[in-house]
Parts: sequence; structure tokens; C-alpha cells
Amino acid sequence: MIGPFPPRVEESAPAQEEYDRERRRVLWAMPYGLYVVGSRAGERRNGMTLNWASQVSFEPKLIGIGVDKHAFTHELISEGRVFSLNLIDREDRAIVRKFTKPVEVDLERWTLNGFPFHDGSTGAPILDQAVAYLECAVRNPVDCGGHTFFIGEVVDCGFQKPEDTPVLRMEDTRMSYGG
Ligand SMILES: Cc1cc2nc3c(=O)[nH]c(=O)nc-3n(C[C@H](O)[C@H](O)[C@H](O)COP(=O)(O)O)c2cc1C
Repeated sequence: MIGPFPPRVEESAPAQEEYDRERRRVLWAMPYGLYVVGSRAGERRNGMTLNWASQVSFEPKLIGIGVDKHAFTHELISEGRVFSLNLIDREDRAIVRKFTKPVEVDLERWTLNGFPFHDGSTGAPILDQAVAYLECAVRNPVDCGGHTFFIGEVVDCGFQKPEDTPVLRMEDTRMSYGG
């Protein structure tokens, strides 16, 4: 059981388990966006579904993403020191299921798991159908235990679809991550 536990929780397994379940539900109640993160190291590229993303500073413009240390994406970002954050059209919600394990990259058709992409100015892949994208250069990787919080500076960005296109959020799916 993962602590710490507040003083009001009795030091017994059932009490701690009950607190653990509630803590998980509170964490699941946090609202999130849902993105595809593009990564690149040399000629290796990947795309990964991710919701742990946020802007973390105005000056400079910094974005942070929490990436599982076991993910292929983690290896690529650690090595390549860049990532892209793809904002997904709400209509394209089905694609998030296609980016939950290392993707098949086809450099003849320029597709990631069949989805057309191009390389951004950092070299990280950007999905052609993303509403918008942010390209980041890693400035500060923070070790968070099971995950690394990669803090990157926005070095390029743009819209690829009209700005009023609704973008995907966690609540548009039945999926959850966290807790
Ligand atoms: C809805 C959803 C949200 C996710 N959010 C994250 C996340 O924020 N961070 C993360 O490391 N993995 C997240 N994952 C898991 C990754 O998409 C992926 O399964 C795993 O990390 C392996 O990625 P890889 O292709 O880089 O090996 C999420 C998965 C789903 C289905």
C-alpha cells in the first residue's frame, strides 16, 4: 500500500485500503486533456497517448509531460531531448487507442500506425490530422519515481485546423490514467 496516510486514517489494512481507493477516485476526478506525444532519437520515432501534460511557466514558455520510465517514448525523449505535443480533434478520439504501444513507422508512406505524419522543426513527428501542435526542447527532466516529468521549452508550434476545432479531453473517452 502506497502511503503516506493522513492521521485520521487508522493504521489497519482495511482503513488504509479504503483511503487508497478514495485517493484514486479523487485523482481520477482531475480534469485533463488527451494528446499524442511525438518523440524522436536519430531515425527512431514514436507516438504515444498521454494526458499528464500542462504548461508550467510563462517566461520562458515551458510545457511539462509525465512519461512512464518503461515507455519507448521515455527512451526516445531521454536520448533525443525533444518532443511534440499533438492536440487531437475531438472527432478523432479513436486514434488515442492506436498509440498505447510502440508504433509502426512507415517511412515510404510517412505514416505512424497508418496515420500520416511529418517531421517538425525539432525532428519530432507531428500528426497531419492534429488540430495544433507544440514542439519542445527538453530543458529539465525531473525524476518522479515511476515517471519522468520532462519539462520542455516551446520552440515551435502551430495550428493545422481551424482554431475553433474542439480538441480532445479525457472526459470525451471512457479511459482513465492516473490514480
Ligand atoms: C487514456 C490514456 C492516457 C495515458 N496517459 C499517459 C501519460 O500521461 N503518461 C504515460 O507515460 N503514459 C500514458 N499512457 C500510457 C501510454 O499511452 C502507453 O501505453 C505506454 O506508456 C507505452 O508507450 P510507448 O509506446 O512509448 O512504449 C496513457 C494511456 C492511455 C490509454
